[in-house]
Amino acid sequence: LARGAGDADLAGRHVVVSAGGTREPIDPVRFIGNRSSGLQGYALARTAVARGARVTLVAANVALPDPAGARVVPVGSAEQLRAAVLAAAEEADAVVMAAAVADFRPAGYRDSKIKKTEGSGPEPIALVQNADILAELGRTRRPEQVIVGFAAETDDVLANGRAKLARKGSDLLVVNQVGEDLAFGRPDNAAVVLGADGSETEVPRGAKEALADVVWDLVAARLKPAAP
Ligand code: CTP
Ligand code: CA
Repeated sequence: LARGAGDADLAGRHVVVSAGGTREPIDPVRFIGNRSSGLQGYALARTAVARGARVTLVAANVALPDPAGARVVPVGSAEQLRAAVLAAAEEADAVVMAAAVADFRPAGYRDSKIKKTEGSGPEPIALVQNADILAELGRTRRPEQVIVGFAAETDDVLANGRAKLARKGSDLLVVNQVGEDLAFGRPDNAAVVLGADGSETEVPRGAKEALADVVWDLVAARLKPAAP
């Protein structure tokens, strides 16, 4: 039986997708951010709605229209994204972490704008590490939950991806190659999807919707049959 795009094979399922990039506030006017546009996460949300899923989209700093039919939860920082994802994950069949989560945040938030001072140079900004949300999902998941991560790698793409998949305890890891004109802010994407079962699914460069449909095919194949 062929299944995939066009089928309502996610009907009755609740899926959570995180998208965009977190911003870690430094002071009232500044933050540490990243280049994620949210395009891949939004494509995942749209395709999941099209396949019949109930979709919660946790969106970090994304300037894109809300996908029709998805519940959108806007967040700013990694800590906010963590709280929103973990809450939604409690009754989710699958969680896909497409968001670019800041690894570090400023150790302290300054209530007032940092000013230039005469003579002395700038104070260094101390950083602390953010919680690893994907690893936490891998540790706390229900056995029938499917957990998917994304990884952007520049060197030793597959070896790094395999190690990351094992470290995070996810079922699937979508590994993108990033570089000058790859991935960020572009409408298309090329990737390899690694499975904890040893599988490797190559996705040729194409629309982010096409990659999203491959991800949902692989998720659907790992979901336990729906309760009668
Ligand atoms: N991720 C997360 N929480 C973090 C950092 C990353 O949930 N604090 C998730 C991302 O959403 C992504 C996956 O983990 O799905 C891999 O992110 P990546 O940055 O590639 O992995 P890291 O473990 O942060 O490793 P690296 O040192 O390579 O950045
Ligand atoms: Ca990281």
